Amino acid sequence: TIKGLVFDLDGVITDTAERHFLAWQRIADGLGISIDREWNERLKGISRTESLELILAEAPTLILDAAGKTQLLDEKNAHYLELIAEITAADILPGIPELLEAAKEGGCRMAIASASKNAPIILARLGLSDTFDSVIDPDALTHNKPHPEIFEKAAQALGLRADECIGFEDSLAGIEGIKRAGMPAVAIGIPTFGQWIPDIEVDATRELDLKKIFSQLAMKE
Ligand code: G6P
Ligand code: MG
Repeated sequence: TIKGLVFDLDGVITDTAERHFLAWQRIADGLGISIDREWNERLKGISRTESLELILAEAPTLILDAAGKTQLLDEKNAHYLELIAEITAADILPGIPELLEAAKEGGCRMAIASASKNAPIILARLGLSDTFDSVIDPDALTHNKPHPEIFEKAAQALGLRADECIGFEDSLAGIEGIKRAGMPAVAIGIPTFGQWIPDIEVDATRELDLKKIFSQLAMKE
């Protein structure tokens, strides 16, 4: 039986995935590299430094030293912080407040498994700092998504086995991590899948319904 829910943050709890994209797009533009939303799918769930490496790989003739890279990482984050400066509880995605409430009423424990170093700031702005039993610190990880470590740690932090939790993700890297952790996965708004297939797919957070998710998972067993 399911006793815990593990959530990605950006693009699942709030629409910060779009703001990450806009901030990266400005960096890429400045380097003469054009990225669009479809290309951006590969950056979702990926750490800040790895995201920059993927962008730079689009311009193989461009060689940057460590200081140049650090400057771009700082610029991206400064712009991102501007873009999230005004978020409030009104920016929690549709259906999420109801889902969190239903989970709480049902006695589910809840954790955040986000690669973002900005997760605590965002949760505070959304008024959700006390909603989750655990927020995994990405700096304490050895491996990034798609490795399952962050989801394994989240289950552990909740005192549960991975198969007693459900993972919610909007990224391919995240779905892979959840499945490799042995956790049922709910995919939100992911256009196409590769090797790792979620247990449940929805187009948007407003379609999330905890009772329906529980019964769909029970039917799969
Ligand atoms: C999440 C997002 C990525 C973002 C990463 C690092 O995984 O999906 O788009 O790049 O976190 O976020 P940060 O706030 O630390 O730059
Ligand atoms: Mg995400």
